[in-house]
Amino acid sequence: MLVTGGAGFLGSNLVRLLASRGDTVRVLDDLSIGRPEYLAGVPHSLSRASLADAVAVREAVEGADAVVHLAARAGIPDSVADPLGTLEANVSQTVGLLDAARLARVERFVFASSNAATGDHELPADENDLPHPVSPYGASKLAAEAYCQAYAGTYGMAACILRFSNAYGPYSAHKKSVVAAWLRAAIAGRPITIHGDGHQTRDFVFADDLAQAVCAALDAPRERIAGEVFQAGTGIETTIVELAAAVGEAVGRQLEVFHGPPREGDVRRNVSRVDKAAARLGYRASVPLAEGMAETARWFRTALADPVLAAVGPHERSGSE
Ligand SMILES: NC(=O)c1ccc[n+]([C@@H]2O[C@H](COP(=O)([O-])OP(=O)(O)OC[C@H]3O[C@@H](n4cnc5c(N)ncnc54)[C@H](O)[C@@H]3O)[C@@H](O)[C@H]2O)c1
Repeated sequence: MLVTGGAGFLGSNLVRLLASRGDTVRVLDDLSIGRPEYLAGVPHSLSRASLADAVAVREAVEGADAVVHLAARAGIPDSVADPLGTLEANVSQTVGLLDAARLARVERFVFASSNAATGDHELPADENDLPHPVSPYGASKLAAEAYCQAYAGTYGMAACILRFSNAYGPYSAHKKSVVAAWLRAAIAGRPITIHGDGHQTRDFVFADDLAQAVCAALDAPRERIAGEVFQAGTGIETTIVELAAAVGEAVGRQLEVFHGPPREGDVRRNVSRVDKAAARLGYRASVPLAEGMAETARWFRTALADPVLAAVGPHERSGSE
């Protein structure tokens, strides 16, 4: 099977899980953001190429029974700064990949979308909500979702969409996410900053849970998934104050917390309904926040003691979701 973006944060977690269950994994990643070190010791073959390279994409899909498409420009601020670049990377290149997969007769296609595609909505977010993206990133994910559905409808490809909520976990040293930033600070004994009052909420999901969601989509009967959208979160609303407490607990110390001004454009609350994935895919996120955070903190401690990984800083284009 082919995993695009397999050397990124979620990709590294997924490729590990796929390899551990005996799948033969090919990774297509241009390493613009991802790190090959994340996959050290994990059986896979790597094609270091961009999705913009049609020949490399054709070769990568050849003979694959499934494609999991994770590669993207995954940052909201990046998409605000460069909406056309995000359109090219997240929409045009997704259609290029879908079409190469169609021509190679790939049976299954799992697309990593985001709750940003749903955008502004009543809570909890539901797959049936009328999407209302509020960022170019969210719009690009929604447009790519539509193409996945079109390839299911027109060509009979078992293409499905997983809308991930805010992920945290190991192999995220390059991320600008709140969990990565706070763990770095907490491990170094520095204070953390909460934007606003900290009562804003998110649905934080452990990366390995998302890898399990992808596997559930790969394994489900095709008629249950073709053209379908599934929200993949926990269904649990966590405040930023609670998240800070979980980070403190994971590193074993009371954190010094500063409050900064609220961030412009931040949504106040977010949480996803997860019943559809449970009913159709038999999948539910199962890792509690405390457990996932402890594992993430363990990974960061080890990574920060490794000269190669310690040098990996937050990447401008790998957003905070
Ligand atoms: N991390 C989250 O919280 C989150 C939440 C919702 C959705 N998602 C989606 O999940 C997917 C994976 O996210 P992530 O956090 O692992 O991101 P990431 O930035 O860590 O990984 C993306 C990977 O894709 C590669 N890549 C980027 N552009 C490429 C191109 N043109 N050709 C080949 N490779 C390319 C990068 O080198 C990187 O390894 C993305 O599609 C993202 O939009 C992530």
